[in-house]
Amino acid sequence: MRTPVRPTAVIVLAAGAGTRMKSSLPKILHPLAGTSLIGHALNTARAIEPDHLVAVVRHEREEVARHISEHDADVVLADQDDIPGTGRAVECGLAALPEEALAGTVVVTYGDVPLLTPALLSDLVFEHEGKGSAVTVLSAEVQDPTGYGRVLRQGDEVVGIVEHKDADESQRAVREINSGIYAFDAAVLTRALQQVSTENAQGEKYLTDVLAIAHREGGRVSAVVAEDRWQVEGANDRVQLQALGVELNRRVVEAAMRAGTTVVDPASTWIEPTVTLEQDTTILPGTQLHGATHVAAGAAIGPDTTLTDVTVGQGAKVIRTHGAGAVIGAGSSVGPFTYLRPGTVLGEAGKIGAFYETKNVRIGDRSKLSHLGYAGDAEIGEDSNIGCGNITANYDGVDKHRTVIGDHVRTSSNTVFVAPVELGDGAYTGAGAVVRQDVPHGALAITAAQQRNLEGWVERRRPGSEAAQAAERAARASAEQSENTEGAGEHRNG
Ligand code: UD1
Ligand code: CA
Repeated sequence: MRTPVRPTAVIVLAAGAGTRMKSSLPKILHPLAGTSLIGHALNTARAIEPDHLVAVVRHEREEVARHISEHDADVVLADQDDIPGTGRAVECGLAALPEEALAGTVVVTYGDVPLLTPALLSDLVFEHEGKGSAVTVLSAEVQDPTGYGRVLRQGDEVVGIVEHKDADESQRAVREINSGIYAFDAAVLTRALQQVSTENAQGEKYLTDVLAIAHREGGRVSAVVAEDRWQVEGANDRVQLQALGVELNRRVVEAAMRAGTTVVDPASTWIEPTVTLEQDTTILPGTQLHGATHVAAGAAIGPDTTLTDVTVGQGAKVIRTHGAGAVIGAGSSVGPFTYLRPGTVLGEAGKIGAFYETKNVRIGDRSKLSHLGYAGDAEIGEDSNIGCGNITANYDGVDKHRTVIGDHVRTSSNTVFVAPVELGDGAYTGAGAVVRQDVPHGALAITAAQQRNLEGWVERRRPGSEAAQAAERAARASAEQSENTEGAGEHRNG
């Protein structure tokens, strides 16, 4: 392996307006696979370990600057002034650097090229420094070069870049395009930018003019041709953003499969690059895994499951579930139709079943909340069975309160825990119990009032109704039946 080369600085250009996105959200803040476009650019830049990382901002300055600083607090923010163009942007970026940083290699990238990898960027720096070049541009061969700057060569040597709008017929025929990503010798860059004017079709100070100037000065100007076109592709509108998102996902899903995850349907599976999956995991169709989600060996997720920052233990099963900020213990099962909210911690070999919502609840090993209910702000011990339709009434309209349930507890259907309340180890509840007071160890809590049946109430109070008619028919049928039974008995006896 070669020794990685660390540039003095990476300058990420992020001052443009991105109007084709047609959005009130600045383009570079649009998310792709859970990270903003500028976030991807900064991650890649940071990964090659520059001494300084600069982002040049202007459009929606405050919002963009805040986002950048939240993403990476060590990024130096540089403001572009009224002079437009990529050359001016870089000049403003250089001005934000300390004097001693204006030597060595300076890399320039864009804030809207999210698939660029640290490997390709460090290849660029390696080639640049290895050849002792003044400038090395990352280029690509494309079918349709319309709109891009074209790389101009004399033999193998790069002599300049011409913008599409300034190019003549023969220059427009060139299919090697400028990606906008470069490695520069800092001294050459600083000097050349002073000579760049805004006399061109767009009235901008072009960074691309630096190449011709460096060549004229006698410096070597080279190109690294990116074979992987996606890595130099920018997201200018929502169509390109979507295509880049699909491609990034395809790469992440393929990497997961190569590392030992079975993905039944890659096209309907979305896995963010930040997700980690152990070997022998299975992802069923319609599943989306976001953020810091981790899936341990042998676990199966899906179908139709969305997990954000969820830790899934070994061999667990998570079916048709929407979860965030939760921990699912080894060997446990969740779903179908389950909503896990932040702070849910399910122990090992437990269960949260169909139509359950949970929030801020710790559930001990082997405990089960099998069907229909809500558990919030609660603690449940080990080996407890929470009956069907149980609900923690955790909110009194003003404050939230806790429900604490011990080990080996059995609660019957439709128990309501009116928090704050505690149930000791081995406690039981009766069906429909509304538990307002603590239940001691081993006690059965019953709150149901004695049942009273008001005979004939429906026929008196709902005369002629379908229910009354059904009741009458049933009454007649049972009267006839008892008559017949009596008759038969008489006959036999007589
Ligand atoms: C630029 C290149 C072109 C290349 C293309 C690749 C120049 C003159 N042209 O063209 O050769 O093929 O990128 O996509 O460099 N930006 C600023 N400040 C500015 C202008 C732009 O920060 O004043 C930033 C933008 O936010 C964007 C990047 O620079 O991230 C590129 O700007 P854009 O206007 O898209 O450049 P192009 O005209 O496409
Ligand atoms: Ca562009």
